[in-house]
Amino acid sequence: MSAPREQFGSKIGFILAAAGSAVGIGNIVGFPVAAAKNGGAAFLLIYACFIAFICLPVMLAEMGLGRRSQHSPRKAYAELGQGLKRWEFAGWLATFTPFMIAVFYMVITVWIFGYLVQSLLGNLDLLASEGYFATFVNEQSFLLYLAGVTAITYLILVGGVRNGIERASKILMPALFIMLILLVIFVLTLEGSWSGVQFYLIPDFSRINGAVINGALSQAFFSLSLGMGILITYGSYFRRSDDIVTSAKLVAVTDTSVAFIAGLMTLPAIFAIFPDTNVDSLSDSSISMVFSFFPNIFLALSDTIGYLAASIAATIFFLLAFVAAITSLVSIIEVPTSSFMEKRDVPRKKALLTIGTLITILTLIAATSFGLVPWFTSFVHYAGVDKSVFDVITDVFYDTILPLNGLLICLFVRFRWKRAQLTAELSEGNPGYGNSWFGKYVNVAIGTFIPVILAAVFINTVFNKFFAISII
Ligand code: PHE
Repeated sequence: MSAPREQFGSKIGFILAAAGSAVGIGNIVGFPVAAAKNGGAAFLLIYACFIAFICLPVMLAEMGLGRRSQHSPRKAYAELGQGLKRWEFAGWLATFTPFMIAVFYMVITVWIFGYLVQSLLGNLDLLASEGYFATFVNEQSFLLYLAGVTAITYLILVGGVRNGIERASKILMPALFIMLILLVIFVLTLEGSWSGVQFYLIPDFSRINGAVINGALSQAFFSLSLGMGILITYGSYFRRSDDIVTSAKLVAVTDTSVAFIAGLMTLPAIFAIFPDTNVDSLSDSSISMVFSFFPNIFLALSDTIGYLAASIAATIFFLLAFVAAITSLVSIIEVPTSSFMEKRDVPRKKALLTIGTLITILTLIAATSFGLVPWFTSFVHYAGVDKSVFDVITDVFYDTILPLNGLLICLFVRFRWKRAQLTAELSEGNPGYGNSWFGKYVNVAIGTFIPVILAAVFINTVFNKFFAISII
């Protein structure tokens, strides 16, 4: 006999856990930089519309499917798909995707942890030195930091849904908000920071084009942790009496607010320290911003506030990024773990050790693909360039399969599970949902234009990433 399915203990516990998943490096760095480069408030407006009208319905579908089936993604699709092979494939994809994204996210979280330790040790000058990041990624200390991140993740997940994920989120998420607000207040007191605020908040619609719109949608989709099976799994830990709709809305609002507030920290800091910054010259990549650009901002700050205070600010920033990353990492590792527990009927600890070992091995492979092991570094060749194992994981799973998974759940709701069933599921805990304008909107949109838009993003990404052809 298998143990009864675990459940979240409270609505706020679920909201904080799901917000913990959603709030990640994408919010702290990805969103602010994308907004700065692409028209400030104009980008924000488009992004917020995507969150409300495209991502939120997909989020509701994922959570509804999870709670209806009370299973992890693979079995949820298999059961509600009534044994049809193609839906089993969708469930399998929704289990394998988080497994691979966990590898990619693990590598970045380990780096953040390393930077946190180094700034705590007072080595900010080292972090900011020219070319340090390229050396850092190939240092043996990676193993030490990996052990640290693995241990923290394990300790949270082994506690289970209520005593592990929910409890950690209840501590870590408020801590994250406090650190973020402290940093924003600090940055806004710096001379010259208001030009950054202005730059951020004044809309510039001339920068909006097809590629920016596509980017905003991908960013919104990733930021809400969609297409990764996470919300199907978390939905399955919901009680029947819980209100999924309000919870999902609150998660979306929290996630978007954190992204917006992070912009009030990042851009003013950049403008205060480097007033002549041309935003077009900022890197598109969150990775190079966090690890190469930000340490320089903090170091430059030591001219005015002293090295110690600058190191403290850097430590708080990396701690903030680390907390954001670890709560996301936990949510994503929970997906294959819960699938494994379900499929093999094994206890959580055993499932966690098996999945954890596999992810650690793949993380080591991905981490050695930055020059250390030449075969992993030039692993394959497409779109005219050599790609490392890390690049392949990012291109295939993060960029391409995420929108595909979103498309598949829309098609599943439309053609197999049926929209009336989704509405009925979401009405439990929120009886007025079916007749509300939003309920009616989701009912239409999820079966019509949302899948069309996601299909367009998917096709565009395939051409773009693998054949270097830009359609949009
Ligand atoms: N939502 C996270 C972010 O914005 C992304 C993420 C979530 C990645 C969960 C992995 C796991 O950074």
